[in-house]
Amino acid sequence: MKIHIHRDYRSLSRATADLIVSYIIEKPNSLICLASGHTPLGVFECLVKDVKEKKVDISQCVFVGLDEWVGIGPKQDGSCRLLMDQFFFEPLMIPAKQIHFFDALSNDLQHEADKINSVIGWNGGLDIMLVGIGTNGHIAMNEPGTSFESIAHISELADETKVVGQKYFKSSTELKYGITLGLKHFSESKLPILMANGSKKSAIMKRVLEGKPGEDVPASIVHQVPQSIVMLDEEAAIELKR
Ligand code: PGA
Repeated sequence: MKIHIHRDYRSLSRATADLIVSYIIEKPNSLICLASGHTPLGVFECLVKDVKEKKVDISQCVFVGLDEWVGIGPKQDGSCRLLMDQFFFEPLMIPAKQIHFFDALSNDLQHEADKINSVIGWNGGLDIMLVGIGTNGHIAMNEPGTSFESIAHISELADETKVVGQKYFKSSTELKYGITLGLKHFSESKLPILMANGSKKSAIMKRVLEGKPGEDVPASIVHQVPQSIVMLDEEAAIELKR
């Protein structure tokens, strides 16, 4: 695990995008999972700019969705897919056939999980996996207690996630379950990046990096993933011993 601390959100986003761009330049047909949520929005902005300025060609990349709220459709306000469409897939006009995403409205959610596990399996694992962190230490919708060996599955959301998750929705929305990639996908990806910014994430980052690693803090998996990179801004890193 490596930890990089950047001055502010802007430089953190730029540096994270640079890691992704360098990887894609080496492997143009990368299988990539980029988290939805607010943390990576600055990275998306940088990547969209880089692609438009032809600094990197993503035409051969394939994208996998990280997670989705069960019962929320892809065009519905607050969905992970809608955010990805708005800030990444549509600005870059990525063809639908190069995007694999969970259908969280499906009557057969296990089939949805199996489908995404197969896409990742056929490709021998993800190349790049960029994730944020919840204030309870979750990665994607892998809540505290999830096995480090997990692959895509349906997860029961933690109470904290149900409350914090309201920030993505215009009106109060009942959230109970999620469908998500697993923690094994993170440990097996070639370039796993955990990104956090802002003072709201400082307490959990201290716990992740300086507490006892274990499945009660999903993001602490970074300790057992030698190739993982933790990208922080100063605010998220403020409680760390340095
Ligand atoms: P955020 O969400 O990027 O919107 O802070 C992170 C998460 O809960 O995983």
